[in-house]
Amino acid sequence: MCGIVGYIGFQEAYPILINGLKRLEYRGYDSAGVALLYNDNIHVYKRKGKVQDLESYVNRQQPPATLGIGHTRWATHGEPSDLNAHPHFSQSKRFAIIHNGIIENYHILKKRLQDRGYHFESETDTEVLAHLIEEVYSVGNVTPAEAVRLALTKVEGAFGLVVVCNEEPDLLIAARRASPLVIGLGEGEYFVASDATPIVEFTKSVIYLNDNDIAIIRRDEVTIKTIKNDTVIPEIQTLNIELSAIEKGGYDHFMLKEIFEQPHSIQDSLRGRISHDLREVRLGGLDHMEDKLVAAKRIIIVACGTSWHAGLVGEYLIEELARLPVEVEYASEFRYRNPVLYPEDIVIAISQSGETADTLAAVKLAKEFGCTVLGVCNVVGSSIPRETDGGVYIHAGPEIGVASTKAFTGQVTALTLMAMLIGRKRNTLSEERFHDLVREIVRLPDVISQVLEQVNDQVREISEQYKDAANFLYLGRGCNFPVALEGALKLKEISYIHAEGYPAAEMKHGPIALIDENMPVVFIATKDKSYDKILSNIQEVKARKGNVIAVVTQGDSTIENLADHVLEIPVIDEILMPVVAVVPLQLLSYYIAVLRGCNVDQPRNLAKSVTVE
Ligand code: G6P
Repeated sequence: MCGIVGYIGFQEAYPILINGLKRLEYRGYDSAGVALLYNDNIHVYKRKGKVQDLESYVNRQQPPATLGIGHTRWATHGEPSDLNAHPHFSQSKRFAIIHNGIIENYHILKKRLQDRGYHFESETDTEVLAHLIEEVYSVGNVTPAEAVRLALTKVEGAFGLVVVCNEEPDLLIAARRASPLVIGLGEGEYFVASDATPIVEFTKSVIYLNDNDIAIIRRDEVTIKTIKNDTVIPEIQTLNIELSAIEKGGYDHFMLKEIFEQPHSIQDSLRGRISHDLREVRLGGLDHMEDKLVAAKRIIIVACGTSWHAGLVGEYLIEELARLPVEVEYASEFRYRNPVLYPEDIVIAISQSGETADTLAAVKLAKEFGCTVLGVCNVVGSSIPRETDGGVYIHAGPEIGVASTKAFTGQVTALTLMAMLIGRKRNTLSEERFHDLVREIVRLPDVISQVLEQVNDQVREISEQYKDAANFLYLGRGCNFPVALEGALKLKEISYIHAEGYPAAEMKHGPIALIDENMPVVFIATKDKSYDKILSNIQEVKARKGNVIAVVTQGDSTIENLADHVLEIPVIDEILMPVVAVVPLQLLSYYIAVLRGCNVDQPRNLAKSVTVE
């Protein structure tokens, strides 16, 4: 939520900031702004709307500053407007600040500042920080960096922030608590950003700030200390993403690119994890805790959104293959519910971004109870992997479209490997079944390629027919029930059509009342142990004149005669079906949204990385 970027160096700052904001726009797109320090003045340009609106507003009138900061906002306090857009000035315009996060005690701080004569222009919590820093600076006889540090000792809540001061033309001050910040190290130049995407074309050397770190950045050096003023020796890491991974590469939208990337991203999730002789699964991030996994009595999965759906598939996989009881919790509910946890419990946090505030808080809570906490994350170096005891990166590469696609299939692939590994170690999975599964899982990239080739045009045609539907129902059973939920979520998120996912057998307990000739019903009806039952469910829908779109196993002539449309997917072990069956549903939501003229990559009111609670 909210993207922030900063630059200090010898190049013109503005183009770097604008391009950086475009890359970070997935984090929020309610407004955008930049502040440029030039000739001892801070020039602020900000606008409601997208980064492109900001660019038109600036209209190349910006000064050629070599230091600046930029922000793209997902509104929390105060509606999206020019005034509430960041950067925010302090009263005398000496400081300007950009901020991602929420200042929880902002009411108290604001009241105190107002009593001392500070005037507020916006409704944001961020402006409180700007005035607070100025006040500490004015009364404390301290440096600007020290003023930021001291001000932050009074602040409760979450922040990733960058501050500039008009009296210091060679200084950026960045700080973080619970909102991500990464510093890119160039030669005579430094970059700061919410993630590495604005940085990767300039440098691969980065420092990820830790909670309560504050970075004092000058053109020739960066110094890091804690908010308590302790010195920090930073760890310099090397980025392993390429520029091409964060560009559209000829596709109309990132979402479509990411759907089509899945054969590769799944290959990357599998890479190095299966021995050449197909006899072993190895997950380096779990090596040191195999004993704990084998001894575990229960696994609890915490996640939000699409990652929660991956967790539901994970529950099925782990219970089936490793015979361990699994509970899947919405991270937000889990953390506020006084959960019953034991030190022997294994908690798995699933998160594409690794930054979702509720999931991160759930991780911290589980650690307080002494549980072993694992992460299944995509963004390398993000907060959740750094908080957990171990885990598995899905290596799906940067996911930019707000609606998650390749991260879901990567998460389910990683969870399958985990379930197989634990199942084998616990001896609940026979050697023979294990080998069968290994042989099947390595086929996934080819099978997904085949699906994409087979159904893409057909899904586009079907989308034409149903683009104006007001509602959709998605039904599946067993491990395909979470796929139904995920299909419905994808459609809601990007096309704004109301859609619900249900276990197919539950249809008769309510949703069947909704079915008439205007209701499209998507069935995931592949050949598995509940096939006969789902066949009956299809008949029940047809008897009420519903329109059936069925995802079926290749060669299924029974459903072909029943359904209005069938989307055939290749035969694969039923345990792996969710990874395959979700692909036509991703395409369906994509094409319907495009036909309805929706902004697919940046759906209204959503953000990719939800760092507020
Ligand atoms: C947001 C995104 C979803 C995502 C969810 C969880 O709501 O729009 O696509 O599934 O956050 O994000 P995470 O990064 O934790 O997987």
